[in-house]
Amino acid sequence: MAPSFPVAEHVALASLTTLGLGGPARYLATPSTQNELLACLEWGDKHQLERWILGGGSNVVIADEGLPGLVIQWVAKERHVVQETEAFVDVQVEGGHNWDELVAWSVENNLAGVECLSGIPGSVGAAPIQNIGAYGQELCETFVKATVLDLETYTTSEWDAQRCDFGYRHSALKPSAGRRFLVLDVTLRFTRNGEPAVRYGELQRTLEASDKPISLALVRDTVICLRRRKGMVFDPNDPNSRSAGSFFTNPILSLEEVEGVRERLADVLAEGLSMPVYPVGEGQQKLAAAWLIERAGLTKGTRWGNVGISDVHALALVNRGGGTTQELLSAAKQIQKQVQERTGVLLQPEPVFLAKRSVSLDDFS
Ligand code: EPU
Repeated sequence: MAPSFPVAEHVALASLTTLGLGGPARYLATPSTQNELLACLEWGDKHQLERWILGGGSNVVIADEGLPGLVIQWVAKERHVVQETEAFVDVQVEGGHNWDELVAWSVENNLAGVECLSGIPGSVGAAPIQNIGAYGQELCETFVKATVLDLETYTTSEWDAQRCDFGYRHSALKPSAGRRFLVLDVTLRFTRNGEPAVRYGELQRTLEASDKPISLALVRDTVICLRRRKGMVFDPNDPNSRSAGSFFTNPILSLEEVEGVRERLADVLAEGLSMPVYPVGEGQQKLAAAWLIERAGLTKGTRWGNVGISDVHALALVNRGGGTTQELLSAAKQIQKQVQERTGVLLQPEPVFLAKRSVSLDDFS
């Protein structure tokens, strides 16, 4: 009997990712209702298939050998207003909805809360997993709850912000991303006619220079323009955007550790270069990974075979065409090693690795 959910066999996954890397899925299921999803899980169990979850493919690195089991891409896309007052609007959005289409909709409806998260590729379901953030705003500021299916226990539960334990590029969903928790839907609370968030220095300066009245729409357009300049808007015509966005997180260090970095870089700092440092609460600071990479002598445009550092942002690793995941992760390991040798900082990768076995950069040389 044919399965009662959409499923295809031997599907190339590379074209479903922004990096354009990785081998095929033995099966790719694309359920869009909970009944289809349950049928898909039962079918996978019956055939004893290992499972992976794929979202929008923009923050994932897939193994060259592919995924020899069942890859599930939840594609349900509905969006409903579930509660509204004069001050706010709560919107429940299914996980397969495109993230940026949600941002565009909120801005068109004069709803504030995610305008600075414009131009981020990927799905709504993936957004809470790493608490997406950009230009001074993070998802956790508007997040109310997510409905999450646990693929280990087959139970569905509601996760509020406390349970998600959001931090910088972190949530309690992240450690098992791609394997255990499937985000069915997310509820966000938008502020009606709210002021746009203008907190990030680069955004502030660009808006001031524009002379136009600041609106949600102007902030959205400006963020997209800034991201595009850095190759951070996925566009098939922009070879620098064939990446997973930032490949490493910006390191958060104690003040003592930051001092240690300054000492190691005393020579370049003495030449007048200043190290970008962002406050992150008591006793800690965040450094710019892109800046550290460049200080380690790895300039924009550096190449290793068919992969390399973007020409326009040192934090993005790009598939130049014909690359492999092996090449990309070896390059990432090389960057991690060189940055550690020069600055003492061990950069941590940001994307999710999907492979048969658990993968870390230490597996590559
Ligand atoms: N910089 C360099 N070289 C570069 C680029 C940047 O030295 O090639 C330095 C500059 O001093 C710059 C600083 O790094 O001022 C910060 O750069 P940028 O504003 O581009 O931000 P980022 O810290 O590199 C983070 C997020 C981005 C987000 C931007 C803007 C992480 C890992 N990345 O990048 O998110 O768009 O801030 O808010 O936190 C993503 O996660 O994929 C992503 C694109």
